[in-house]
Amino acid sequence: MQKANDIYILSIESSCDDTSCAITKNTLLLSNIIAGQKVHEQYGGVIPELASRDHQKNIVPVVDAALKKANISLKQLSAIAVTRGPGLSGSLLVGLSFAKSLSLSLNIPLIEVNHMQGHILAHFIDEEGDGNQILHPSNSAKQKPAFPFLCLTVSGGHTQIVKITDYLSFELLAETEDDAVGEAFDKAAKILGLPYPGGPLIDRYAQKGDPGKYKFPTPYLKSYNYSFSGVKTAFLYFIQDQTKLNERFVNENLHDICASYQAHLIHYLLKNLIAIGKQTGINQIAIAGGVSANSQLRKEIISLEKKYNWKTFIPEFQYCTDNAAMIAITGYYKYLRKEFSGMEITPLARFNIA
Ligand code: KG4
Ligand code: ZN
Repeated sequence: MQKANDIYILSIESSCDDTSCAITKNTLLLSNIIAGQKVHEQYGGVIPELASRDHQKNIVPVVDAALKKANISLKQLSAIAVTRGPGLSGSLLVGLSFAKSLSLSLNIPLIEVNHMQGHILAHFIDEEGDGNQILHPSNSAKQKPAFPFLCLTVSGGHTQIVKITDYLSFELLAETEDDAVGEAFDKAAKILGLPYPGGPLIDRYAQKGDPGKYKFPTPYLKSYNYSFSGVKTAFLYFIQDQTKLNERFVNENLHDICASYQAHLIHYLLKNLIAIGKQTGINQIAIAGGVSANSQLRKEIISLEKKYNWKTFIPEFQYCTDNAAMIAITGYYKYLRKEFSGMEITPLARFNIA
């Protein structure tokens, strides 16, 4: 039943290659529709121009489906939330223009959302019953991180360790100085001849492989920042050298290659997280972003709970990769603080989390 003070948010996410629209009633998710883009598979990465075109094609049907699934009419909406960045400018522009028009025509506030804040606040999405294609009713009483908590946010464009002291208070403690870990997964997959995005495929092949068979270098940095460009290059040379000796090397050792490379990346991610956990004394530890769907990362972080006295928070699979539900929940907390945007805002390809 609708109460007078219920806040209904329609949110749009279009920062990369997923067009998504979600509708929330306060913190409760009513619908979350995602249209992916297969066109990039063959290119080994997202082609920005093609991504924008597909967003343009998908946005109206996706918004329509989200409204229908939630059984909400446009006039019930309290605000429109939208990803302003970081991401691909052309992709962001499609979602942002659509969101502005909707907010103008309905005469309701526009709320800009930082995509990386969204990934983290995905931990605060509530779900209930059906009415959503991806609902997990058993999860409706899930535990949420308490403030302050640390979040290892790992995606195709970012690798960060963030301290969160309140819903909208973020402090960046570490980040990658070059490539993101998702890129390290995807580029290695491309070298192995696998389609984009290769992260989930490496994860799958790794499950039957020996994680200790091959070794890769860990960069030495003075801070707790990350660097993934060196390991990516080391991986390329390793595959080239081995293929010169045996042209069937990749085929014959695919599982062991994936397992060893994945184990290397995950241990490197966790090494700095453990160090920052010790340094800050914070023991509420979350992961977020596309790479938080990785099965080894999910398993290993839970296995560290006892050793470091951590309480860990692992997002539901459907809220790891890009989705508009995370934008809606962030929009809700901004709505409570009346943090609204003007019609002049433009996409931000780079957008600091803090
Ligand atoms: O958060 P996301 O959907 O988009 C960005 O904001 O970048 O993350 C996409 C990234 C891709 O690099 C993809 O390969 C990676 O997440 N990814 C995975 C897994 N599932 C998605 N990486 C490793 N293992 C997975 N299971
Ligand atoms: Zn993302």
